[in-house]
Amino acid sequence: MRKPLVAGNWKLNGSTEMVSALLSGISQRLSTSRNAEVAVCPPFIYLEQARQQLEGGEIALGAQDCSDQQAGAYTGEVSAEMIREFGCRYIIVGHSERRHIYMESDAMVATKFDRVRESRMMPILCVGETLEEREEGRTQAVISRQLDAVLDRSGTAGFRDAVIAYEPVWAIGTGKTATPDQAQQVHAFIRGKLAGLDEEIAARIRILYGGSVKPENARSLLQENDIDGGLIGGAALKAEDFAAIVAAGG
Ligand code: PGA
Repeated sequence: MRKPLVAGNWKLNGSTEMVSALLSGISQRLSTSRNAEVAVCPPFIYLEQARQQLEGGEIALGAQDCSDQQAGAYTGEVSAEMIREFGCRYIIVGHSERRHIYMESDAMVATKFDRVRESRMMPILCVGETLEEREEGRTQAVISRQLDAVLDRSGTAGFRDAVIAYEPVWAIGTGKTATPDQAQQVHAFIRGKLAGLDEEIAARIRILYGGSVKPENARSLLQENDIDGGLIGGAALKAEDFAAIVAAGG
């Protein structure tokens, strides 16, 4: 049985005050009978504050990105190894905002994925098509290409301790959600592709859905067979909404 994961991607939002209030708001609202694992991914600069506040609790910590480099003259970068020092369990790689706004290539995302694994954390690899790609019937081809870049570098075994997040670019921050059926089809495709390489890894990997998940649509999405949780943006900034989505995970 796969344990669902609901992870909050806070993006470029926060302040010391907000981090403290949001984390205590979430902690207070989480039900002890929940089924899902919970993680939050604040901006790098707040990881230490979050680590201290979450210490001894059940909310896992993650980062939103890491460098493809390990160390050296790379101004502004933060390595996976540095992130590990702050108690992170997860690092998101290949978010569509990184791919599209910061022009990260499939190869760069694959390198980052590897860096996270080398540092003994779990990558949350984001994949997903744009609206144009979907309308041209290229959804599966795009997702295959994104997965192949990682498979080429890390092999199938690279997915043993990893999470995948399917995030259709057209659903991120737009209020448009993929229907449970649309999402399930892509999730099944991803799992099927991995099953062709290694059935055990495919059966155990968690595939999250992301893109305008809200308390109102979370339950119908999360009850699909191949949807094992969510990567939540906007709704992760409101303790009440985030906790309600976690509760929808069972
Ligand atoms: P959203 O973002 O929930 O605000 O659509 C999801 C994401 O980008 O991970």
